[in-house]
Amino acid sequence: MTTTALVTGASGGIGAEVARQLAATGVTVVVSARSVDRAKATAESIDNSVQVLPVGLDVADPESVQSAAAALAEEPGRLDILINNAAAYVDWAELASTADLDAARTVMEVNLFGGWRMTNALLPLLRRSEHPRVVHVSSGAGVTMMSSSGFASGTGLRLRTRSARQLSTRSPAPRRPSSPTRRSSSTPFAPG
Ligand SMILES: NC(=O)c1ccc[n+]([C@@H]2O[C@H](COP(=O)([O-])OP(=O)(O)OC[C@H]3O[C@@H](n4cnc5c(N)ncnc54)[C@H](OP(=O)(O)O)[C@@H]3O)[C@@H](O)[C@H]2O)c1
Repeated sequence: MTTTALVTGASGGIGAEVARQLAATGVTVVVSARSVDRAKATAESIDNSVQVLPVGLDVADPESVQSAAAALAEEPGRLDILINNAAAYVDWAELASTADLDAARTVMEVNLFGGWRMTNALLPLLRRSEHPRVVHVSSGAGVTMMSSSGFASGTGLRLRTRSARQLSTRSPAPRRPSSPTRRSSSTPFAPG
């Protein structure tokens, strides 16, 4: 049976290239972008010897995610690989102390909650696969926590990886209450 993958944010950049390379290996690819026309343009640019399905999908919009998940359950009816690639950006020079929080919130909706929302919405379909995979495309900025894009990528990667680990765990095992531990992370602030 053919492997099926969904790539978010595939209207250009890395997402479109990942979709192209997956298709070249014979994977059925669902190419998604906020604009269905841009998804179609990417799909048409890919060699059509394999099935490439364009889908309009805004990962920051719960209704859009739910309707895409419902559509995928119909056609192609399976999903083996989810690639959370979509990302929004802010000014890379931004510091936490002077950040525009509305812009930061928008980034969080795409880079953090977007991938998380996608993973949760598609878990039922992924669980039907014998070898499900969730790939979160993050950024080196997530390691340094540089700007809110980096913070969203770094935090998102950890949280979404935890949710992806539940792929094969239908009912998470009960956990013993643990004593609170202190963890620290540093965030760059403007000298002031
Ligand atoms: N390029 C680099 O050097 C680099 C370095 C480190 C990490 N990365 C990571 O690699 C991934 C791809 O980066 P890229 O450079 O290819 O960026 P890009 O060209 O800007 O692509 C990002 C994609 O995300 C889509 N997108 C934005 N908001 C969206 C939303 N709400 N719902 C669905 N799609 C949305 C955009 O599509 P539309 O605007 O057409 O909707 C666009 O196609 C990102 O996760 C990024 O963090 C890239």
